[in-house]
Amino acid sequence: MLNFISEDMRRNPYPLYAQMRSVSPVLAVPGGEIWMILDYEGVKRAIHDHDTFSSRAAPPGGGPLDWMIFTDPPRHTKLRSVVVKAFTPRSIAGLEPRIRELSRELVDRTIERGEMDLCADYAVQLPILVIAEMLGIPLADRDRFKRWSDAILNLSQTIGGGEEGARAAREFGAAREEIRAYLAGILPERRRAPEDDLLTRLVEAEVDGERLVEDEILDFFLLLLLAGSETTTNLITNAILCLLDHPSELARLRASPALWPSAIEEVLRYRSPVQAVFRAPRRDVEMHGQPIPAGKLVLAMIGSANRDPKVFEAPERFDVGRDPNPHVGFGHGIHFCIGAPLARLEAKVALPDLVSRLEGLRLASNAPWEPRKTLHVHGPTRLPIRFEPGRR
Ligand code: HEM
Repeated sequence: MLNFISEDMRRNPYPLYAQMRSVSPVLAVPGGEIWMILDYEGVKRAIHDHDTFSSRAAPPGGGPLDWMIFTDPPRHTKLRSVVVKAFTPRSIAGLEPRIRELSRELVDRTIERGEMDLCADYAVQLPILVIAEMLGIPLADRDRFKRWSDAILNLSQTIGGGEEGARAAREFGAAREEIRAYLAGILPERRRAPEDDLLTRLVEAEVDGERLVEDEILDFFLLLLLAGSETTTNLITNAILCLLDHPSELARLRASPALWPSAIEEVLRYRSPVQAVFRAPRRDVEMHGQPIPAGKLVLAMIGSANRDPKVFEAPERFDVGRDPNPHVGFGHGIHFCIGAPLARLEAKVALPDLVSRLEGLRLASNAPWEPRKTLHVHGPTRLPIRFEPGRR
């Protein structure tokens, strides 16, 4: 669907956004079923005004999944309350030493080689290992977990349609059934012997006085695995791309490590890992003088909003010290990313670790990097890098 945009443009969609924004901040995609909102004010309204813009939206060809992210109040409020406490900055802070350890182990595995695929060897693995621990997946089951997460990660390709999309949908369906069977085995154990993990939280949670049924637990499992991994992977790889493209900004960070938190916010703005979210207007809406009919699919283009010159001074400049930086990379309003504190913490551990341990870090080739298949998640699918071989 969104792959009407070429590979070059998926690597760098920003000139196209700027061009479209200058024509109109609200545009109907030819065919008339999809509307794009491209300016900051419009995107913020679409993702904030949930009375007008429902989250029960899905790309053509697929109904919305029953995941919290695709629900509206009052159900959304209840589902969100089940997991929100596990993701507060306070709950997340305790994970920092373990994230550090995992990051160190991943770098140790490749550092003597002097080269790696930053995606496969590091950035895909770290968030998956972290979310597996939070869920409480036993170590012995991690191989299976990795296989499932691969199938779930490919889910975003289904949006591209075609043969590849159909295969990804089949693999996701198969993984979903395997996970269902796995949960049927492990959930009774958690009921019998609760642990301090998300699976226990899910079996003990009540919505309207009733425990979640197994399908609802399965949906949470899939959502957390998907939302918590691919996005953070892209944050890490996009950050390295930004820093290699802007050596003077990397030098600033080396000289002033206190700038890392604002550098991470700048990556979220400048190369937003989530470029678009879906909404469905409940009634006919007018935005910037353009009518958007009820029931159409609206793409709120976060990646474009974050480059809107009406809000960001010199939006095409990558500035690790940018302040203020009111980007909407994690969304806005009631669906604001629940995992934002975790993603920020993972990036805060991962990026200084990579940059300080991988001496002479550079891209392995001058060939353009391979972008993800669809535009709504933005980043490379592979990112071969080289560095001076170092000691474990
Ligand atoms: C850099 C990393 C991340 C980015 C850019 C990101 C981005 C987003 C965005 C834009 C939304 C809003 C969706 C909407 O309004 O329709 C969202 C929601 C969500 N995110 Fe993230 N996310 C990231 C990491 C994570 C992590 C690590 C987790 C969990 C482990 C997570 C879990 C969720 C969940 C569960 C929602 C749905 C919240 C709701 O519906 O109330 N995300 N994320």
